[in-house]
Amino acid sequence: MKRDFLLAPSLLAADILNMERSVASLEGEQDWLHVDVMDGCFVPNITFGPGFVSALRKTFPRETLDVHLMIERPERLLDDFLAAGADYVTIHAEVDHHIHRTLSRIRERGGKAGISINPGTSEELLRPLLPFVDLVLVMSVNPGFGGQSFIESVMEKVTMLSRWRTAGQYSYLIEMDGGIGKQNAAMVALGGTDVLVMGSAVFGTPEPARTLREIRTLVKEATDRA
Ligand code: DX5
Ligand code: ZN
Repeated sequence: MKRDFLLAPSLLAADILNMERSVASLEGEQDWLHVDVMDGCFVPNITFGPGFVSALRKTFPRETLDVHLMIERPERLLDDFLAAGADYVTIHAEVDHHIHRTLSRIRERGGKAGISINPGTSEELLRPLLPFVDLVLVMSVNPGFGGQSFIESVMEKVTMLSRWRTAGQYSYLIEMDGGIGKQNAAMVALGGTDVLVMGSAVFGTPEPARTLREIRTLVKEATDRA
């Protein structure tokens, strides 16, 4: 069955001192730019803040900025990230006692609302929230760092999320993040993933644009054949 899919390179793996050049090295082959925000609490690493998103928005006005918040108390920074120009804002189900309220607020402020779960969190936790989200992000590594190995068992979550989407007539996209590259991108897409996030597999290669083209061809051939 022919299916659409999107490729979202993760800037976590880009050259942070040459961010503009890193984005340019994709030569427009990307569909979205994935921005990993880490707070040193929810995950053991610290990365970008709203100022970074705002600078990206200014320099790349037409890009879709997919902001993945790996932070505690995301409600405190939501408005800042949205004002900075984030398109999708994804929060983790594990951090928020009032997820429904936070997701609603993202939409009220004009953003697309995403919800994410770690590899050790059951997709059942997401079920009551599915009518209220534009994106479900299934983590395929434990968040915090790029370059980790893909955890195969998360594919079962994608199966369930696709099934629930059809049954409930929802329209959320299913995104997967961590350990994806040439070796498994086709399998990830065939399993029902709509948005593939890739960091080191793209920016860790000498020609990121060429790598993205190759991955797109691989995935397209596999999904067209299926
Ligand atoms: C992990 C981040 C990912 C990371 C993926 O905590 O959420 O977006 O950049 O990196 P790779 O593709 O190298 O596993
Ligand atoms: Zn991410």
